[in-house]
Amino acid sequence: MHNSGRLPVQSNSNSRPIKRHHTAREIVHRVRDSLTTRVSKLVCAIFLAFLLVVGLITFVLWVSLRPHRPRFHIHEFSVPEATYNPRMSFNVTIRNPNVNIGIYYDSMNGTVYYKDTKFGWKQLLLPFYQKPKNTTVVADELSGSALTVDGQRWTELKNELRVAGMVLLRLEITSNIRFKISTWQTKRHHAHATCDVSVGTNGVLLPTYIDRRCPVYFT
Ligand SMILES: *[C@@H]1O[C@H](CO)[C@@H](O)[C@H](O)[C@H]1NC(C)=O
Ligand SMILES: *[C@@H]1O[C@H](CO)[C@@H](O)[C@H](O)[C@H]1NC(C)=O
Ligand SMILES: *[C@@H]1O[C@H](CO)[C@@H](O)[C@H](O)[C@H]1NC(C)=O
Repeated sequence: MHNSGRLPVQSNSNSRPIKRHHTAREIVHRVRDSLTTRVSKLVCAIFLAFLLVVGLITFVLWVSLRPHRPRFHIHEFSVPEATYNPRMSFNVTIRNPNVNIGIYYDSMNGTVYYKDTKFGWKQLLLPFYQKPKNTTVVADELSGSALTVDGQRWTELKNELRVAGMVLLRLEITSNIRFKISTWQTKRHHAHATCDVSVGTNGVLLPTYIDRRCPVYFT
């Protein structure tokens, strides 16, 4: 405030020293500014490098520890001819594709649908633990009380098989699973595998469906 009043008077008498004074101050400012800039740039660089390293470690851990969902394949499915004693049998394999991660299956349901009508269901296996890289065979059959469908639907299926020469069914396998990573277990995931199956007039799975992979989703 005081300076601004005085300065014009001084600059009138001799402008050079003041100019030099200003320049010197400017240089000091500039040096100080560039120092601050450099320090902040360095801090920024260190921080970014730190973030990069942390990100890289997280990524590597995530890639190596990330659990892959189990793989389901359908190998056999049959609807034998016997009209008075309906039954359906199937053979599905479940593979744990992980190298270091085991899988706990709490319980498992197998359900067969025809035209979105539930034909029958049953519990397939007792709860079990699947080691890494292991394959479990689920070969079972639905018959008797496990086939809950009414006679009318069953007749409809048989008729379609006779007329069209094939019939499309759906086998769904559900289970609640947990992944075991080292000594730690993940929370339960509801795994849901859907196998489309088509059987021919001989009652067995059409060749194009054999060994097909069944899509799996989690809820
Ligand atoms: C089920 O299919 C698998 C793979 O083709 C086979 O190794 C296994 O012997 C079959 N199990 C039964 C009971 O048919
Ligand atoms: C899967 O594990 C069982 C025992 O837990 C073992 O007998 C079987 O050989 C294993 N299968 C494969 C394909 O590693
Ligand atoms: C199996 O089916 C029963 C009866 O519908 C149901 O209560 C149970 O939650 C099912 N379990 C799985 C894992 O889908």
